Formats: sequence, structure tokens, C-alpha cells
Amino acid sequence: MSDVLCKDEIINHLSSPEKFKISVFSDIDSTNSHLKTLAKHGAEIGTVIIADSQSNGHGRYERKFHSPKNSGIYMSVLLKPELTADKSVLITAAAAVAICDAIFSLTSKKTQIKWVNDILLNGKKLCGILTEGSLNTQSHKLDWAVLGIGINVYIPKEDFNQEIKDIAISLLNNRKENFRNLLCAEILNNLSTHIENLKDKTFLEKYKEYSCLKNKKINIIKDGLSEPATVLEIDDDCRLVVKRPNGEKEILVSGEISIKV
Ligand code: BTN
Repeated sequence: MSDVLCKDEIINHLSSPEKFKISVFSDIDSTNSHLKTLAKHGAEIGTVIIADSQSNGHGRYERKFHSPKNSGIYMSVLLKPELTADKSVLITAAAAVAICDAIFSLTSKKTQIKWVNDILLNGKKLCGILTEGSLNTQSHKLDWAVLGIGINVYIPKEDFNQEIKDIAISLLNNRKENFRNLLCAEILNNLSTHIENLKDKTFLEKYKEYSCLKNKKINIIKDGLSEPATVLEIDDDCRLVVKRPNGEKEILVSGEISIKV
């Protein structure tokens, strides 16, 4: 079954093709790094870089994002939202909802969001999101933001490497005609609606519904140490509200957590 990433196929399935300027690469170092360079040189809002593989795909905390060929979607989108840096988490949240909705409409599979930037299927990581931006120090707003999305669509030919084998999952077991192109287009279609309404936070209720953290006991990972807490809620700025064992409430703007089993 042929599922080759193809610019024209993606464009054919966009609701508003004029909003995006898409380039597809068979291999790249990192779609985020490439697009950040373009952004610094004045690339337009809606520039999209998609690759079939990345040699230096990365996630938060400089971690490597395994990006083997012919199996995933590695995509970065250039945005210029009217947002202060402390609200940039809303971009990641909007993208997470766009991705979960797109996956459900194409596969009927129910995914979950693990605050703030991971998408899980059956409790394992299916997708990671990395938003990187350039701050205007005078206005404290973002000049631009690069939204990076990495999805494990098929099991890689060489399987997931040992490091992530137990925690990663792919979306489909068998190749499906044109699937990755359709998924890219559906994500971009959903994304353009949410990004236009970023300040109204129309996606937030869905983000909360998709969250896998409701009332969960978690560990907050800070400087290599795990600190226990219980999740109370995700608030309207997409921050995680937790209760510490001593009863104190804490609000996390970003960070890393693990779910206790
Ligand atoms: C994470 O898991 O911490 C986020 C992973 C984000 C990976 C995507 S793949 C496309 C884009 N290019 C990158 O180098 N990273 C993001």
C-alpha cells in the first residue's frame, strides 16, 4: 500500500490551501530547526515544513525525537500569534486538540493528551509537540512561533529503538493508502480554526476532555527528582493545578510529569 508524503496530495485535502505554504522533504536535520532559520529570515506565517525522516529531530529538554523514514509525520508550522510568551502553551494545547480530533476523524481511535505536549494511545506515547518561539523583548509578545509535531504513524522498519520500545506506540499496524497526507491535511485544517481563535480558547474544553490526568496521582519531575502530587484540574490558561501531599496547591505553567500506576 502506497503512503508516500506528497505536497500536492496534502494541498488537495486542505480546506483553505491559501493559508499554507508547504514544502515536503524526504530527509532533513529537524523540521523545527529548518523552519526557525526560515522564520529568522522573514518567512511567512503558514509556512509548513514536512519531512519523511529527520536526522536530528528533537523534543523538549534537548531530547532526541526518533524520526525514522517512511513511518512517521514530522511537521513544523510557522505561526505569528498575538501572544505573550507566558501564554505560548496555548499553541501547544490547540495543536494537541487539532491532532486528537484529526486522528479520531480518520481512524475512530481515541487518543489522550498528557499535559502538556504528549499525545498517548493506549497509555503509550504516540505523538510529541514542541513549540519554540522568538520573543520580542519590548512587547513581550512572540514575534513568531514554530509548532513542531512528531507522530509515530507506522511501526518503523527497524522497530522502535530499545530506549523507547516500552513507552512508544504507532497509530496503525498496516500501511493505508495516502494516510499520512490525509492526516497532515486534517491536522492543518483543524489547526487553522483553533489558531484563529487562540485567544478565545475555543479548544480548551476539548483539551480538558482529552486529558488523561483527571484526579491522577503524578510525580512532578524537577532536576532529576520526582515529587508526588495529585492533579486537581487544568485551568483556563492550560496550567496544571496540583495538590502537594502537605495539602498545598501549586500551579504549574510547564514542566514534566509522570503518571503513577
Ligand atoms: C517531545 O516529545 O518533547 C516533542 C517532540 C517533537 C518532535 C517534532 S518532530 C517535528 C519537529 N521537529 C523537531 O525536531 N521536533 C519536532
